[in-house]
Amino acid sequence: MPFNFKNPSKLFAWFYSLFCPIYGRNFYKELLPALKLNGGESVLDFGSGTGVLAKKIIKELSNGGTLTCIDLSEAFLNKVRKKLRKNTNVNYLLGNIQEMDIPSNTFDKIVITWVIHHIADDVRPGLLQSIVNTLKPNGKIYVIEFLALPHGIPEMKLIELFNEIGLSGREEYRKKNTGLFEFKRN
Ligand SMILES: C[S@@+](CC[C@H](N)C(=O)[O-])C[C@H]1O[C@@H](n2cnc3c(N)ncnc32)[C@H](O)[C@@H]1O
Repeated sequence: MPFNFKNPSKLFAWFYSLFCPIYGRNFYKELLPALKLNGGESVLDFGSGTGVLAKKIIKELSNGGTLTCIDLSEAFLNKVRKKLRKNTNVNYLLGNIQEMDIPSNTFDKIVITWVIHHIADDVRPGLLQSIVNTLKPNGKIYVIEFLALPHGIPEMKLIELFNEIGLSGREEYRKKNTGLFEFKRN
């Protein structure tokens, strides 16, 4: 990971809290209706960062739904806790999903926004498989990714990663070098 998310400096965490809502807003605006939430779902925000998207999703889960936020960074997860402190239907999980005992078939929807390109090439397939294992049979995964090299992950490579673990996907929205994708089991 080129950025030190795990132990970010105060300056980096502060900058990120300001940058994410501005950079992400056009894409979150497309993602939220694409999720088609009825309010009762179990949703995973994988790599929830400072919680900008989580704060928007929780507003849609007013019908008994729950949101789970997973992140490697304690500092960022604490920012999410602070943002969502008034909500009781949120689980916060710190660390590596591969070491967590999340039962299979737990989540209806999973969002992974600007995370995959930060994960090392050799780690991606196993990590994505662990995420997919937690998805319900008819569940869907929504990915927003930066697609331009050298920092991002090319679109074909992203789609192949999911294809190799039994999911098919399509691009729902594209603006410049960033795409929103929906994946489901074949
Ligand atoms: C660029 S930020 C994106 C945050 C958020 N999804 C958003 O839309 O703003 C990437 C986040 O992914 C987290 N992350 C990276 N690798 C991870 C992993 N293997 N497991 C959980 N979180 C991870 C980082 O700690 C960071 O908070």
